Amino acid sequence: MSTGKSHKFDEVHQEVDRLNAEARTADQLMEDITRLLNQEMLKFNWVGFYMLEPGANPPVLALGHYRGAMTPHTRISLNQGICGAAASSGKTVVVDDVTQDTRYLACSLETKSEIVVPVFVRGKVVGELDIDSHFPAAFGSDDRELVEYCAQLVGQRLEKG
Ligand code: SME
Repeated sequence: MSTGKSHKFDEVHQEVDRLNAEARTADQLMEDITRLLNQEMLKFNWVGFYMLEPGANPPVLALGHYRGAMTPHTRISLNQGICGAAASSGKTVVVDDVTQDTRYLACSLETKSEIVVPVFVRGKVVGELDIDSHFPAAFGSDDRELVEYCAQLVGQRLEKG
């Protein structure tokens, strides 16, 4: 395979496309994506969306659909955590070792690494897809590409309204 991607990534990409074609709403797509990624990706131990609460001032990220252990962080300000950093910068944040990142807000003692990918609607951040792993440095370039693809599909669905 020229991309060097494993069969697993291709399989999950296809499944994401199928879910996107079948989901009736953006909300359903978000729920389906959290379930799929948590079930199929061995190292994606917690998968969830945080969405900017409409009209909140100051802005706040509210926990939406998620799969994995219950988290104490159901509302996160933009100046808090890896989640706040990704939403306020509009950039994907990958943390290979959460113990080395002072921004990190702990959800579970088992979490070793994390990726947070912003979701955009018409160029503006509206939320993000957050994934925690029990494995250090769990998110390589293929993982990042997959998570960014999921976040992009959700943004497109939200944009359609
Ligand atoms: N670790 C995140 C908080 C959310 S939990 O991972 C579910 C952060 O540092 O923002």
